[in-house]
Amino acid sequence: MQTGYLNGEYAPLNEMNIPVLDRGVLFADAVYEVVPVFEGRLIALADHHARLMRTAGALKMPPEHLPDLRDWSEIMHRLADGNPGCGGIYYQHSRGVEPARALRPASDDLTPTRLGFALASLPPSGGVRARLIEDQRWGRCDLKTTGLIGNLLGLLAADGEEVVLQRDGWVTESSTSNVFVVLDGAVHTPKADQRILHGITRALAIQVGACSGWPVTERDISVDELGRADEIWLTSSLRAISAVTHLDGTPVGDGAEGALCRRAREDLLRRYRTDSQA
Ligand code: PDD
Repeated sequence: MQTGYLNGEYAPLNEMNIPVLDRGVLFADAVYEVVPVFEGRLIALADHHARLMRTAGALKMPPEHLPDLRDWSEIMHRLADGNPGCGGIYYQHSRGVEPARALRPASDDLTPTRLGFALASLPPSGGVRARLIEDQRWGRCDLKTTGLIGNLLGLLAADGEEVVLQRDGWVTESSTSNVFVVLDGAVHTPKADQRILHGITRALAIQVGACSGWPVTERDISVDELGRADEIWLTSSLRAISAVTHLDGTPVGDGAEGALCRRAREDLLRRYRTDSQA
């Protein structure tokens, strides 16, 4: 059984329990992060911590209840070291446990529930099939909270395939990844506004692309353009970069992982090997 973390303790994950009146359980009033573990090393830890703090701040969670980077790093390293071969570490922090159920927090001094565990790597793939699905999520998709029911609705509509979400004819992201589109040899990704999660992998890919000869333009991408794409990529902490080979059953490009996607993944993984934030 894998080692998990709960409120300062490390123990077998299946022996851990959290209170029913935790606001994370009742209202998804909890923030979370997934940090990739690549070749045994945590990647972009400081960036993930900054996003955790930003989301918690937007939810007005008391900052003194959240771990600082040093404490968080210790927890995350201990989980990565205790679970060799894992592909990522999940960390969740709720606003806390209520004396009784009430949507308005009883106080700003509740005791948070802090938990963590290891995630498996995604199996390597030559690409995934995806469906274009209407984005039915809320207006603050930039906040990484555990309220993911809109993301789940998208996945459930996709019959086992991945999704590319669109809102009003514009591509947003995928249910657990950001989206990049290659058009006439140039790489584009939707702007980081409130319609999408500001993915750490997305940001790293943009940085790596800028110095590796495949600059990325951040701009609105229409569904029409998506239909003409030479390549579509998904990026996330658990998948790095992978290709969408078919959209709604139609091949994207020649229906296999594109050459630029392969190159981008190699460039990104090279960057992972030199990452020094952990
Ligand atoms: N998901 N968009 C959404 C909706 C996501 O849930 C994620 C990450 C991303 C990519 O973000 P990042 O590159 O920082 O992992 C984009 C994680 C992996 C998850 O919930 O499992």
